[in-house]
Amino acid sequence: MSESGKPTGVLFICLGNICRSPLAEGIFTHLVEQRGLSDRFRIDSCGTGGWHAGNPPDPRSVLVASKNGLDLTRLRARKFDPHRDPIEFDWLIPMDRQNEIDIIELGTPSDKVRLMRSFDRSLGKPSDVPDPYYGGDDGFDKVYEMLVRACEGMLTHLGH
Ligand code: 4NP
Repeated sequence: MSESGKPTGVLFICLGNICRSPLAEGIFTHLVEQRGLSDRFRIDSCGTGGWHAGNPPDPRSVLVASKNGLDLTRLRARKFDPHRDPIEFDWLIPMDRQNEIDIIELGTPSDKVRLMRSFDRSLGKPSDVPDPYYGGDDGFDKVYEMLVRACEGMLTHLGH
């Protein structure tokens, strides 16, 4: 819960909203449910590009999610809204530094922005969640593992 008593809004952001950020949304939602915190969070994802708006996640993200007990099939891609999203969400979580630059250039206050892997305390320096779109299936397994560590770190950071 935020200070106002409203659910804490968390928005995961990547480029296309079909590979990394829907997987982050699914993992974070699952961890929040497991911990009985669902009413405390509002969770969503989007992309800085709109090419895939309305589409379900990439089948490779759907597959790695389902191998780990998560269902992403009902998610649909949407484009980042620079007017509404920075107001409606408390935390805007870009997957890589280019996504971070893009949303800040569109006017997002930088104090709401945290790079996804900044929550992975095992990393010494800011790191990107690499874009797996043009790579092989093993890229999606690696992204999944990175996202689990970052989501767990984020919940710890938020006091859970
Ligand atoms: P995402 O991956 O940003 O993790 O969803 C991508 C998906 C699609 C494209 C690029 C990245 N694309 O160029 O269409």
